[in-house]
Amino acid sequence: MRVLGINAIFHDPAAALVVDGRPVAAAEEERFSRRKHGKRPVPFSAWEQPGQAARWCLRHAGLSAADLDAVAFSYDPALARPAHEMGLDDPFDDLRIRYARMAPTLLAEELPGLDPAKAVFVPHHVAHAASAGLAAPARSCAVLVNDGRGEDGSHLAGRYRDGELEVLATQPLPHSLGLFYEDLTQHLGFLRSSDEYKVMALASYGKPRHLDLLREAVRVHPAGGFRTDPVDWASLCPPRAPDTPCTDAHADVAASAQRRLEEVLLEQARLLHAQTGERLLAMAGGTALNCVANTVLARQGPFERVWVQPAAGDAGTSLGAALQLSASSGQEPWTMRGADLGRDLDDGEIERALRRSRVRYERPGDVAEAAAEVLAGNGIVAWVQGRAEFGPRALGHRSLLAHPGHRANLERLNDVKGREQFRPVAPMVAAGRAAEIFQRGPLPSPYMLFVHDVAPAWQDRIPAAVHVDGTARVQTVDAADEPLTARLLDAFERRTGLPVLVNTSLNTAGRPMVDDIRDALECFGSTPIDLLALGSFVVRR
Ligand SMILES: [Fe+2]
Repeated sequence: MRVLGINAIFHDPAAALVVDGRPVAAAEEERFSRRKHGKRPVPFSAWEQPGQAARWCLRHAGLSAADLDAVAFSYDPALARPAHEMGLDDPFDDLRIRYARMAPTLLAEELPGLDPAKAVFVPHHVAHAASAGLAAPARSCAVLVNDGRGEDGSHLAGRYRDGELEVLATQPLPHSLGLFYEDLTQHLGFLRSSDEYKVMALASYGKPRHLDLLREAVRVHPAGGFRTDPVDWASLCPPRAPDTPCTDAHADVAASAQRRLEEVLLEQARLLHAQTGERLLAMAGGTALNCVANTVLARQGPFERVWVQPAAGDAGTSLGAALQLSASSGQEPWTMRGADLGRDLDDGEIERALRRSRVRYERPGDVAEAAAEVLAGNGIVAWVQGRAEFGPRALGHRSLLAHPGHRANLERLNDVKGREQFRPVAPMVAAGRAAEIFQRGPLPSPYMLFVHDVAPAWQDRIPAAVHVDGTARVQTVDAADEPLTARLLDAFERRTGLPVLVNTSLNTAGRPMVDDIRDALECFGSTPIDLLALGSFVVRR
């Protein structure tokens, strides 16, 4: 059975192809269109379909649109209600619903030969839930979804057993943990529904002085669901204009909202655990990209294990919608082993592009050794290898890497990327060495979705990878899943004694991650990167 999953309605438009229950390709439209998040989540853009990503998925599998058995959209317009009934102030919301109904014919314009009658609408939060519950390393698990909004809700709690979802709680709009956090993101001068992670990073600089007030505003129902009353953010701190400094007042409000979010998620998890008795909690929805909150759930929550699907935002609903439809058609279960579902690189194509670009390049005996040599000498390396990551985290396929032992490298990397200096970068570490260096967080942690305390003995050895509060957002690299990146870490350790590299996504401010050969050359050509390791080839500055 061939199912194409599509996310198109809000933001992060994406396509995923699932064949006989197995994802064979998944990619965000932004990686092709080079527009970050694909589009803004406004009703006027809801008609846009992820045509380039969908065509690539089909091409990758050698299929045509006519070969598809179904197209699963991660939004069901039949569940949507007029904005005023949902307590939302958006006079154009109706447009979104109309475009959602038209989505099958709009997609058919992008995919000639597609039969719009093969469309199936999967409820948005079911698609999020499936993206976690049908990918998690257990056949039976609890599942928790929180985001800004779907058709008429913002939350789903339930459980998956043998491919079947049992919904235990939902939360209708306007109450939304995602919108609560997005409102503050905007008040703090960042881009809403995009820069929430900056609020999370800022929170670690503040004190939760306003927690009592936010406990009043955001309350959990004992039987599931919650209330979010509007918060007068201006009464807590002045709005920040973009490109002006963040003050302690801003950081304190961020810290308060972050803490309240963590408390609410903990309460949701405790209830869900009491209801299901499951050992594993699988999470998706934009809120599950909050790695600080995820860690609180892992440390203090009742579940033995918390697993977060790396494309937890709306892009992942393309995969979830397709998995949900496949599972309901009796396809065999699948377990996610890596986020590398995106575009592949071909050495022949790379060499042709390098020749065409007239850049001097080499083909070293081992690209991992060549990159490790430059990294050990404190050079910055663009590491572009294998299939691109699905989801927002660079996990050693489209990564910017540096030596963790020099504190100044945090600033250097943020300069390369042209982004705020308070933003942390993250360590990647050989899986076998992680426990000795990174503590009080779940291990293994292959998707960089949890934070760990850096062991005191290591804080001075890898200062560039340690955040101001002594934590680090770790990616563990297992040689069985990531042989090439594991070899790079090993080669670096042989030279420096450190089994750790600093890793951040390969992109410049405001742009999507590098995806293909052209993007890699463009990024290398426009930033002070010392070495581009592109497939089997290297280009030196
Ligand atoms: Fe969502």
